[in-house]
Amino acid sequence: MGRRFFVGGNFKMNGTQTFLKNLIDNLNAGQLDDNVEVVIAPPALYLDQCRKQVRKEIGVAAQNAFNATSGAYTGEISPEQLKDLSIEWVILGHSERREIFKESDDFVASKVAFALKSGLKVIACIGEKLDEREAGRTFEVVTRQLQSIAKVVNDWTNVVIAYEPVWAIGTGKVATPLQAQEVHEFIRKWLKENTSEATAENIRIIYGGSVNASNAAELAKQADVDGFLVGGASLKPEFVTIVNARI
Ligand code: G3P
Repeated sequence: MGRRFFVGGNFKMNGTQTFLKNLIDNLNAGQLDDNVEVVIAPPALYLDQCRKQVRKEIGVAAQNAFNATSGAYTGEISPEQLKDLSIEWVILGHSERREIFKESDDFVASKVAFALKSGLKVIACIGEKLDEREAGRTFEVVTRQLQSIAKVVNDWTNVVIAYEPVWAIGTGKVATPLQAQEVHEFIRKWLKENTSEATAENIRIIYGGSVNASNAAELAKQADVDGFLVGGASLKPEFVTIVNARI
């Protein structure tokens, strides 16, 4: 059986109760491709509301989680608390967490391992910065980020890898289909050589960075692009079009 196409919507720090209810009403009314796994990631404050309002076939993800069950970690959220709200997914290692909040490769990896051990499914984000791409270091960077995770994770069953070139996030400068395919193919090859053939074959590798209703279909045609992690466009009605990119 092939890899089920996966489309995540990372709302980032956007939305209010009313805005998110309207967005979810639109999603619930939408004709979505049954062959696509859809997961939305609202701000933490609205996880409970969104879980209760969105139709059950659509998953809900937190945008971050800590690597402890409980304790003196002011401002943090634990995987156990997410499970307490029936939240099944978490995005970890987003470039904004790495850049703004200085999350290291090893810290991200420890959070991936802890979330998985706690029973969550993880969207693990990797990707290079513009200067790293321009210096020809893209493969070196994604390898380093993957190696950190592989050091502490053996079972990748509940991991989706999101390749998000930082230079494409929020810029409108989407990677070309060939650019995306090249890195996705490299990631899958790395997994085959460093984890297992089954892991490499079964894991979803999704693309994020300025995906919209106009470019999603071409990107979706690439053999190793198994879906998307959508930012800005996930806040708009066009998110339904992106989910249905392969129809
Ligand atoms: O996590 C997805 C996000 O980083 C992509 O953002 O606005 O470029 O689709 P955007």
